[in-house]
Amino acid sequence: MKKRLIVGNWKMNGSLAANRALLEALRSGLDSLRCAVAVCVPAPYLAQTSQLLSGSDMAWGAQDVSAHEAGAYTGEVSAAMLKEFGVRYCIVGHSERRQYHSEADGLVAAKAQRALELGITPIVCVGETLAERDAGRTEATVTRQLAAVIEENAPRTADIVVAYEPVWAIGTGQTATPQQAQHVHALLRAQLGAAGGDAAQIAILYGGSMNAGNAAELLAQPDIDGGLIGGASLRAPDFLKIIAAAL
Ligand code: PGA
Repeated sequence: MKKRLIVGNWKMNGSLAANRALLEALRSGLDSLRCAVAVCVPAPYLAQTSQLLSGSDMAWGAQDVSAHEAGAYTGEVSAAMLKEFGVRYCIVGHSERRQYHSEADGLVAAKAQRALELGITPIVCVGETLAERDAGRTEATVTRQLAAVIEENAPRTADIVVAYEPVWAIGTGQTATPQQAQHVHALLRAQLGAAGGDAAQIAILYGGSMNAGNAAELLAQPDIDGGLIGGASLRAPDFLKIIAAAL
């Protein structure tokens, strides 16, 4: 059975002092990990995070990567730069980037490709808005988003992580029911399987208001392999409880 994976997405939060306190609390709260754990931090904190987590069982990652390899792209951070800081994961296509930075499916697919080329595991986010769900377009939306990444990266699809994050559940306190989430996860797994490769081995995470109270029920679903945690990953006791629910 593949290991479960719990990933914190700090978003644009943190400070040198707050990060230190949080990472030290996580390190001391985790004796030995039976599930994989990572934190995806703002790029300027990768150096600090790599120092504080090196030698631990926890991995770290970035929240975005440039679709370009290098050059005149002011403000962008390349996969090669992330690699220098030892990142294992990189979130791509988070709904906040799709929504606020107009990232389309093709761009997300190219970002996943840049990460894979450098041996960084892209955490590919897909998810429908409330309007799309209400219009009965959940399945069409998530499969379209994932298809773009599969097409661009076909032989390496087995090396990605997928995160199903219904947009209406992110940061709202409104979680998808375990049944709603399971339905979409099974659909995504079938899509990955149809693309070739061993879909059973690809981690599909749920994200969207996952917290210490609802994690166990979500993680009990057969196709929910872990979580991508925003708000609750900023509080060590809550994040540790979610990790414990995944063991
Ligand atoms: P949330 O965020 O847990 O705060 O809802 C999840 C995410 O956006 O990755």
